[in-house]
Amino acid sequence: MHPLTLFLSISLPLTLAQLPSSPRFDLTKPSYDLFRHKTLHDSTVQQSFTFDNTNARLFVSQRRNGADSSLGNLCITQLDFSGNQVGYMHLTGFGHGVSFGAQAVGTSTYLWTEVDANSNGYGTRLARFKFTSGTSLSASSPTLQKFKPIPAATEFTCSIDPVNNRLIVRYHLSGSGKHMAVYTLAAATAGDFSSPLVNFKIPTITTLGGAFQGYAAHGRHLYLLWGDSYDVTGGGVNSQVATVDMNTGLLVQGPTLTKAGESLVFREAEGMAVYRTAAGQTRLFLGFASGVAGDRRSNLFFKNATIG
Ligand SMILES: *[C@@H]1O[C@H](CO)[C@@H](O)[C@H](O)[C@H]1NC(C)=O
Repeated sequence: MHPLTLFLSISLPLTLAQLPSSPRFDLTKPSYDLFRHKTLHDSTVQQSFTFDNTNARLFVSQRRNGADSSLGNLCITQLDFSGNQVGYMHLTGFGHGVSFGAQAVGTSTYLWTEVDANSNGYGTRLARFKFTSGTSLSASSPTLQKFKPIPAATEFTCSIDPVNNRLIVRYHLSGSGKHMAVYTLAAATAGDFSSPLVNFKIPTITTLGGAFQGYAAHGRHLYLLWGDSYDVTGGGVNSQVATVDMNTGLLVQGPTLTKAGESLVFREAEGMAVYRTAAGQTRLFLGFASGVAGDRRSNLFFKNATIG
């Protein structure tokens, strides 16, 4: 055997960068408003949001009114890009809603969410189902496709890179913390999780201490969001964003303070997503909840300046 062949056969699975290079968002550049102060179907804080990029639809998750968060009962509101309500679904026993994805199938949207909430209200599998406005689904519904991409993992959430059609899975390994694995959306839809494009432990990142609030991916980069409401910080801004290179698993920018929506009441960082406009501008969206208890509002901002 040629020595190089031996070298490659040993080192390829561990070291080869699997995701092609791509520009990354510059987190130090300003954020712009998509909308502020929009109501969702239920009145709790938003948890996250996602775009069906093909059909230009926006979906926002929140805990259902009156439901303890340990139940994992979620509401998904569909909004137009001005923030007007278009529809909603109720999900029973799914999870916390910290991240989810939307996949176009023709003119339909299929959602990818966590499901089978554990006693803390976090999903223990992923589910895929058609968004059908005005309907409710329980975690035991036979219409759900369910997946456990990493058999040893105990909790899952996901996100979709809508530009590159990849499923980004964040999972918890007991004793080893949070990891990310990336799959082609085609393989994931077929239930094939045998060949992740990358699979790595999220690096330890020293932040100002805000709660973890969401993630999104575009190309080879993963974006992470942290932050607490003004109720928790006593009025200070501690929302931060950071970029991780998914080929190396290393931090490449941040954590950077973001003051997007600084003047909002309450202002809790809640969710991230990527969207590419019809004109071809790719945007990294940051979400924030605002307003008072019983009347929380949705606010979305985006960054679009890139490096590389
Ligand atoms: C980002 O979007 C804003 C608002 O639409 C626009 O003014 C700006 O030119 C865009 N910047 C880039 C780099 O695309």
